[in-house]
Amino acid sequence: MSLAGREILLGVGGGISAYKAAELLRRLQDLGLGVTVIPTQASLRFVGSATWEALSGRAVLENLWENVQQVPHIKAAREANLIVIAPTTADLLSRIAGGVANDLLTNVVLATTAPIVLIPAMHPEMWLNAATQENVEKLRDRGVLVIEPDEGRMTGDDIGVGRFPEVTRLLSEISKFVDLNSDLLGRRILVTAGGTREPIDPVRYIGNLSSGKQGYAIARAARNRGAIVTLISANSSLAEEQGVRTIHVTSTEEMSSALNVEFAKNDVLFMAAAVADAKPLLVSDAKIKKENFLSIELVQNPDLLAGITKARRGDQVIVAFAAETGDIDIAGAQEKLKRKGADLLFLNDVTDGAIFGSEETQGSLLDSDGEILSIEKQGKDTLADILLDRALIKLG
Ligand code: CTP
Repeated sequence: MSLAGREILLGVGGGISAYKAAELLRRLQDLGLGVTVIPTQASLRFVGSATWEALSGRAVLENLWENVQQVPHIKAAREANLIVIAPTTADLLSRIAGGVANDLLTNVVLATTAPIVLIPAMHPEMWLNAATQENVEKLRDRGVLVIEPDEGRMTGDDIGVGRFPEVTRLLSEISKFVDLNSDLLGRRILVTAGGTREPIDPVRYIGNLSSGKQGYAIARAARNRGAIVTLISANSSLAEEQGVRTIHVTSTEEMSSALNVEFAKNDVLFMAAAVADAKPLLVSDAKIKKENFLSIELVQNPDLLAGITKARRGDQVIVAFAAETGDIDIAGAQEKLKRKGADLLFLNDVTDGAIFGSEETQGSLLDSDGEILSIEKQGKDTLADILLDRALIKLG
């Protein structure tokens, strides 16, 4: 079962590293997970509820005696798909191992059937104490994932095992334990979306019907699978995606500049934007009167994709898109894939305005190795995952 889009309960124990749980919370949200925080009373001395409410965007569950009619510990325990406690103090380890339920968090742990991940952090003497080690062993025997702390400098002068681990290691261990669907963890993915506009005068432009839905769907899916995503969005009216760095552009020239800055930092480029093929030779400073608005002389825009593929490294993967009307010319699309220097090309038929602005899509996925995959009608989110799967294979 993939946990993408599901619910995590983040318990926060009363240790100095409680503040480090904030970054973990953010990264879990970036994977598309909903996070509700249950801080212990002791942890509130280190990080207050306001921080957790602001970061999670949700009310914080603080004690057993609020909203008693809803039986909060049972409700929270049933709704959670995963429980993570960060940091887990020696006291929490002992209470959980002993089946004690004397606050909201330990009640939830006792009542849940969801997998449990504990992230202990404490002074080395406490971690190595026989009582703590016995508790850890007991919990591991019961199927709880107890993550080994890092070795290093503690809050005081001492050095040893007991530090709160780096978040990247935590995510990688958690996703081995439960399927967080994070096969793109740490990969950098650049997506262009929408359609560029070329000004004619202060009130008119040449544009196209691209809604940006396919590009946004790719950005969202990549984020849900753990990637670090940058989206260059041209004139889309869609809301920004949480956890996706979005750069807004209008013209082809602006998109070109953004691509030139961003491309080298990324492992994969999805060139889903509809780039205006041409622009007016002259842009009028004043609105053109209708008597004079009868023809526009155009000049061709540079082909951004062809330009960028010339600057590519061997370890980068490039995915192109093509929208055609009428008879779908697979041989022509294969030639386009080669000419543009991309690894994959998704070809769709936009005859009669189909696809543009729609939630669904269909077409053919062409691979530079000659393979052609027919994509039956399906959601743009599903196509996004198929494209990401293919790109991941190409990344090796
Ligand atoms: N593209 C680009 N720069 C352009 C035009 C297109 O980077 N000036 C990219 C698109 O983002 C898309 C791919 O190239 O990923 C294919 O676009 P398409 O418009 O089908 O290609 P063209 O070269 O314009 O071919 P055609 O002559 O069929 O319009």
